[in-house]
Amino acid sequence: MNRNPIKNICCIGAGYVGGPTMAVIADKCPDLNIYVVDKNQSRIKAWNNNDLEKLPVYEPGLKEIIERVRFKNLFFTSDIIQNIRKADAIFISVNTPIKTSGLGAGKASNLRWVEACTKEIAEYAEGHTIVIEKSTLPVRTAEIIKKILNSKLNKNNIRKTFSILSNPEFLAEGTAIYDLEYPDRVLIGGEEEDAINQLKAIYEKWVDSKKILTTNLWSSELSKLVANAFLAQRISSINSISALCEKTGADINEVSRAVGFDSRIGAKFLKAGPGFGGSCFKKDILNLVYLSRYFGLKETADFWEQVISINKWQKERIYSIIVNKLFGNITNKKILILGFSFKANTNDIRESPAIEIAQYLLSEGANLFINDPKVDAEQIETSLNGIKGDLQKKDQNEYGNWSFEKDIYKAFRSADAAIIITEWEVYKTINWQKASNLMNSPAWIFDTRSIVNAEDVKSAGLEFWSVGNGNYI
Ligand code: UDX
Ligand code: ADP
Repeated sequence: MNRNPIKNICCIGAGYVGGPTMAVIADKCPDLNIYVVDKNQSRIKAWNNNDLEKLPVYEPGLKEIIERVRFKNLFFTSDIIQNIRKADAIFISVNTPIKTSGLGAGKASNLRWVEACTKEIAEYAEGHTIVIEKSTLPVRTAEIIKKILNSKLNKNNIRKTFSILSNPEFLAEGTAIYDLEYPDRVLIGGEEEDAINQLKAIYEKWVDSKKILTTNLWSSELSKLVANAFLAQRISSINSISALCEKTGADINEVSRAVGFDSRIGAKFLKAGPGFGGSCFKKDILNLVYLSRYFGLKETADFWEQVISINKWQKERIYSIIVNKLFGNITNKKILILGFSFKANTNDIRESPAIEIAQYLLSEGANLFINDPKVDAEQIETSLNGIKGDLQKKDQNEYGNWSFEKDIYKAFRSADAAIIITEWEVYKTINWQKASNLMNSPAWIFDTRSIVNAEDVKSAGLEFWSVGNGNYI
């Protein structure tokens, strides 16, 4: 059956995926009306803030698009019911973190938010609605969505029908706008050709149709998990080799370059670092492992689980090196953490390696000064289990404490060490002589991203360690 083209879109979830994705669709499709709804009212308020510096998500290029489309054909609102009712298509873009308790704790995704919003769709949708999975979900979640939606058909004498599509998002934070505007591919999984074509028609407004792949529902759901697992696997592979470089005198950047020149391997995603963070990689691999174990595929599960083990080991390895270089004692030492977001150009700290490294250093009694261009003290406090950033209150011999410092050079004053954890551009141009003059002596610089010029640091009289660099071990 050929239905009218989609006109009104509702996106449930105004987060790091929902917000930027809908902004770009609104920008590319002025004929569509897009309503991004969220039960978190303060998030909606922040999206509607007149001061575009205060949007809840930081992404290069995002505020310019928001300025163009907001209040024209893109609206952020808490009126969930009304917008479900009038939508022709609804994107589910809610959070799907790993369960922290109960069956599958630490392994399976918590689908309570997907279930809750699907129940709302089932209850309030009217006429025909295309329901689109945008959040990354375990394989066969569409089955659950379908069951919930079908349970309310023809209730209250309101005619309703649903088509279900999987349309996973491949954007990476920090480059979200570019990735959305110039995607490598758009993936649409579904069973009904008409619904697939309607969604396809939206993307065709700016994406070459050859790049729009259509599959069955389950291939689409699984492909998203597999793509992330492959990417994460490359990082664990290169990080495992970074340790070997440090022992053998090789340089990981030279090895990455030499290996990546092979066109079969490719140069991207071969940068050693403190381990991958972000909301997706760990969760998606855990989902893959859970799924494999469920189907009795032990070897497949063990293989992918190792990617996560290496990622954890890399962080542990790095903080052990830091403590050892500081004579095995960091109690009351002033250590500067440069960067708290999980990668540059985002204010997202979910699964950031900075969290685990900071927690470990605090457990050894360090006084941390944390700097980040986009992350704020409140986010850091939450991630450090509510330890308040108040160095004044520190008990001298016990657990460490931390303080947020916006001014990098102020933070260098009397510091014993600085650790670069995020590859923000501003850390690449630090004046090391100036930093050295302010720091204690001896003082160490630990570059977990291998982004600074080693000679500049060393010639400023500072001790230096950088990931995967066998010359500085
Ligand atoms: C990832 C996928 O790239 C994206 O397609 C998917 O939609 C969501 O998950 P994201 O987590 O936002 O995106 O960022 P990404 O650029 O993939 O980086 C993930 C982590 O890997 C970061 O912590 C990053 O610093 C790290 N990384 C990445 C490396 O350590 N080395 C690299 O070479 C690349
Ligand atoms: P992502 O990175 O996948 O976008 P986020 O956690 O940044 O994830 O965003 C998910 C958003 O979904 C949150 O702002 C949360 O409040 C919202 N959300 C979750 N469940 C519901 C629901 N039932 N109705 C409306 N919004 C929801």
